[in-house]
Amino acid sequence: MPSSYAQVYAAWQKDPSAFWAEAAKAIDWVEPPRQIFDESQGPYGRWFPDATCNTCYNAIDRHVANGRADQVAIIYDSPVTDTKRTLTYADLLAEVSALAVVLQDFGVVKGDRVIVYMPMIPEALVGMLACARIGAVHSVVFGGFAAKELATRIDDAKPKLVLTTSCGIEPGRVVAYKPLLDAAIDMASAKPDAVLVLPRPQAQAIMIEGRDHDWRGLVDAAQAQGRSAPCVTVKATDPLYILYTSGTTGIPKGVVRDNGGHMVALAWTMKNLYGIEPGEVFWSASDVGWVVGHSYIVYAPLLHGATTVVYEGKPIGTPDAGAFWRVIDEYGVVALFTAPTAFRAIRKEDPEAKFLKVHSTKTLRHLFLAGERADPDTVAWAEQVLGVPVIDHWWQTETGWAIVANPVGLGMLPVKHGSPTVPMPGYDVQIVDEAAKPVPNGQMGSIVIRLPLPPGCLPTLWQQDDRMRESYLDDFPGFYKTADAGFKDEDGYLYIMGRTDDIINVAGHRLSTGGMEEVLASHPAVAECAVIGMRDELKGEQPCGFVVLKSGVTQSPLAIEKEIVQLVRDKIGPVAAFKIAITVNRLPKTRSGKILRGTMKKIADHEEWSTPATIDDPAILDEIAAALQFKGL
Ligand code: COA
Ligand code: AMP
Repeated sequence: MPSSYAQVYAAWQKDPSAFWAEAAKAIDWVEPPRQIFDESQGPYGRWFPDATCNTCYNAIDRHVANGRADQVAIIYDSPVTDTKRTLTYADLLAEVSALAVVLQDFGVVKGDRVIVYMPMIPEALVGMLACARIGAVHSVVFGGFAAKELATRIDDAKPKLVLTTSCGIEPGRVVAYKPLLDAAIDMASAKPDAVLVLPRPQAQAIMIEGRDHDWRGLVDAAQAQGRSAPCVTVKATDPLYILYTSGTTGIPKGVVRDNGGHMVALAWTMKNLYGIEPGEVFWSASDVGWVVGHSYIVYAPLLHGATTVVYEGKPIGTPDAGAFWRVIDEYGVVALFTAPTAFRAIRKEDPEAKFLKVHSTKTLRHLFLAGERADPDTVAWAEQVLGVPVIDHWWQTETGWAIVANPVGLGMLPVKHGSPTVPMPGYDVQIVDEAAKPVPNGQMGSIVIRLPLPPGCLPTLWQQDDRMRESYLDDFPGFYKTADAGFKDEDGYLYIMGRTDDIINVAGHRLSTGGMEEVLASHPAVAECAVIGMRDELKGEQPCGFVVLKSGVTQSPLAIEKEIVQLVRDKIGPVAAFKIAITVNRLPKTRSGKILRGTMKKIADHEEWSTPATIDDPAILDEIAAALQFKGL
């Protein structure tokens, strides 16, 4: 089918308000929007300022009312616990509305925050939707973070209540959640009133009397008494959730998502970008702790009346590299969305895709990749073994949906390996130099988006309008700074080449090297340090820390390096995947004292490097190269 992308994008450019007013018709509003955008509110404006709605109603109730009660809403497939379960839209409504009334029993009301600290089980979605139902603001924290990271988020969000479970399961390891949560609450100054704990058979949670309660018992009791909470009307501009993401310091940024704009944007993408019809099975193999999970495991598929897959497992090892094909085969998945790392892992394990002979992927129409750069090699391999188009698309926690993509539903544009294709309606993407002047096609520059950002994108950071302006809006007036660098080609295709800040991307997980440096510097033997992201065949990047020890330290460097690796695991969490610490005598710096991390990265990546003119002592670069070589890197 010929693509209508150019016409659709042009229609948005001509009249953005009319475009989004039309898209807003996909939503059942309490009060439909009369005004589409108000530029006077918030750091850059607010969408649908006079509308009211409820996200949970749109994700569940209306489908039950409109004939989808018996359709499966959630497929839970957990190879790590050997469990499979389905919830219909009617089941989901019963679970969510009962949990919602339990939350209300604890005094949770519109605007209160609830931390959701849950692994990939259906109750994570139930918890999020129950919050949405009563207008509470959820903040999901990924299970791979350490207690300190959780404490930071608790202190920022100040939750009235926490939803958790006894454990998560990693291959070969049960991750007890409750001790981590207890430690985090001990560390935090903002103490939640209550914790609801969902018991799982793999670990028993020790309950703290007065504060901790049995989730299952309370929900069962509410259901037995026929109690449920109705949907609470909220403003389209009220927050639906806060999702913390790595910033350039150890303090994460609380990305805010509103209710109305979020629904409109996500509903638009399901049909136009992903080409999904209501009733079809859409699988996002991510985690509810990340933005991809929020948007494409939970909200978008349910808003659209599709079936979503909650997969508690890995692409390999649970039990083998055929796991993804099995799930596609078993449930008739039509579109799979994951990070390129997952495919690199499968390819490494099964380069000839032998497991595709065991399972059929005939229902699959497209594979969507995001979260990190999709290297052309991996894309080509996936195309070849699956025999379906592989669509790279580029977005961020901040935007909540794709900035640049190949819109399947509008008719695909030709794929160019290495490019996520073209800007979606809503996004005017420019490549600029430091003075915010557009650079010619083919030339690298900072990628910026002309304001306003479209519906669904962050209106601000949680209670930090100033940090929002400072982080994203001040450097290029009139534009949102993506902090990614790249270029456009002569056809308007974008190429995303890397970050302009200290963020690195490890297995599709966004991490701050600045945050890791803070941890390294807290070790008593460390005088100074630098963390870089070095290239990794599987995870894209992996962190590598260089430390200079204080004079007079008697402990062996090897012992200190081990302690540092453990310290990052304890303070940030296993997800940081910090495994390499290297002791050096000095760090390379400019004459003004700036550490030359860029050059260090080139050396670590075995790329060609030159000595910067501003360097204080060029010999130090050779010392870094020698230290890496000594470690076999
Ligand atoms: N809870 C607790 N620990 C977790 C966790 C969770 N939810 N998720 C990951 N971890 C741990 C892992 O067990 C691992 O611990 P280890 O150091 O003891 O081995 C560590 O964090 C690093 O995890 P990860 O970087 O994911 O590496 P991995 O070796 O476990 O798996 C892949 C590698 C490629 C299989 C895996 O990263 C993957 O499936 N990626 C898919 C992409 C994805 O989901 N991206 C999310 C955004 S779209
Ligand atoms: P996150 O907020 O965790 O989704 O990470 C966002 C960052 O991941 C972006 O700013 C990019 O640096 C990177 N990223 C995400 N998707 C892509 C992609 N398709 N191509 C290149 N980089 C990507």
